[in-house]
Amino acid sequence: MKPLELIQAIRMIKRQALAQSTQLAQLRQALIAFVSEPANRQVNITNTSCGLYTRILLNSFDDDFQIVVVLWGPQSASPIHDHNGTVGAVAALAGHTIEAKYQILRTEAQRAWLQKQETSVLKAAYVTPILPDETSQLHDMVNATDTWAATVHIYLTPITDFYIYEPQPDGTYIMVERKLWFDGDNAWQTWQTPLQQEVLGSGS
Ligand SMILES: [Fe+2]
Repeated sequence: MKPLELIQAIRMIKRQALAQSTQLAQLRQALIAFVSEPANRQVNITNTSCGLYTRILLNSFDDDFQIVVVLWGPQSASPIHDHNGTVGAVAALAGHTIEAKYQILRTEAQRAWLQKQETSVLKAAYVTPILPDETSQLHDMVNATDTWAATVHIYLTPITDFYIYEPQPDGTYIMVERKLWFDGDNAWQTWQTPLQQEVLGSGS
């Protein structure tokens, strides 16, 4: 599946009034079709990012959903964060990242009590869901390898603001609001570019 076909597939999912389980099943199918296409791994890598890792929007800011390619440098990581209540899914495109999910036990003002859930290695088209419930909304992601990794994230509702959860000495977490950043948009237009570094695919 080509980048533009993925955008069109997500547009179709958005147009229908689907049950959440059906949305997830269709997201999973579209993501696997996209990450299984060798041409999609020819990503123009950039080391320059406004944040801890590189986030490139495959579609347009005008769309009512987001398809984000995230590029993880060697030994890079995200903090624990939420997704502003959206339904979505994440798939491995290249390399290995590790995702840990966190259950929200309770919140009080800007303080949260979390319980770490399962960890998963995202590789070989593995797809993990993002859901509004208290067990599937928070996660962190780590590239613990010495090569680059790439993941594809689809959010059926655009995320502009979200919270990161900073660990405290007493075991609780302080919620800190953040604005989501992008290092590029409409990337589908230039997706088929030569690989500039021998990074993608080297660890998969
Ligand atoms: Fe995330």
